[in-house]
Amino acid sequence: MDMFEAVQKRCSVRAYLPDPVPKDALERILEAGRLAPSAMNLQPWHFIVVMDQQKREAISAGRFAHFLSQTPVVIVGCGNRSASPKGCVVDTTIALENMVLVATGEGIGTCWIGSFDEEHVKVLLKIPEDFTVVAMLAVGYPREKPTLMERAIRFFRQRRDMEEIVSAEEFGKPFQPQFKEPGISGTSCGGSSGSNSIRTAPGRYMWPTASRQGSTGRPGSRSATLSRATWRVS
Ligand SMILES: Cc1cc2nc3c(=O)[nH]c(=O)nc-3n(C[C@H](O)[C@H](O)[C@H](O)COP(=O)(O)O)c2cc1C
Repeated sequence: MDMFEAVQKRCSVRAYLPDPVPKDALERILEAGRLAPSAMNLQPWHFIVVMDQQKREAISAGRFAHFLSQTPVVIVGCGNRSASPKGCVVDTTIALENMVLVATGEGIGTCWIGSFDEEHVKVLLKIPEDFTVVAMLAVGYPREKPTLMERAIRFFRQRRDMEEIVSAEEFGKPFQPQFKEPGISGTSCGGSSGSNSIRTAPGRYMWPTASRQGSTGRPGSRSATLSRATWRVS
């Protein structure tokens, strides 16, 4: 899976199979965090891999974290404030997202978790005082059939339009994307069944993906100006 495909395919998975995550895959995921960039290369992070059922139940107390009790692995990302007071949160976040993308490439689902009581988690996992619990990641194989609630959440995961979130040269000056396809999305979410395909609202963008064959896009179309691009349509 290439990088852009992993970005497209990633989505929050909130229903997992009980199957364990293979050790080598878990190690690759953690390695992706270890290799992440950090301000002044301080690497102000620590990751706790939690598999113990009782601990997972205890950290699933957050309002939007109940599924952690049924998630095979939870990675707790901690930022070291003593090592990098200004950078520890950003750096740990980058490392966690590296893990998320590598997990996606491995066919493993993830979900960011910010719904937790930090003090509770720190006591439970014996995290030193000068560490901040930045976020947790649920990690495991997605259930083939997501719950009704999960399907509803996924349906509403549309993104803001490009014009709304990107400026050209200065804040608020319109950025005009060249590529716009009405009502199509090439993303699928969580698992391999393909039954969870996500449809975006009409008028959302469909992004080009780099082509291994080096296609130059459809001649005369809006995509033709983008070299080495093909379009995913599903
Ligand atoms: C920092 C952060 C914290 C989050 N916390 C939670 C959480 O506690 N529970 C949850 O179910 N989802 C959580 N999410 C997932 C978001 O709800 C999700 O990313 C968003 O709805 C977009 O959907 P997608 O990830 O499927 O694209 C969190 C995401 C981020 C980035």
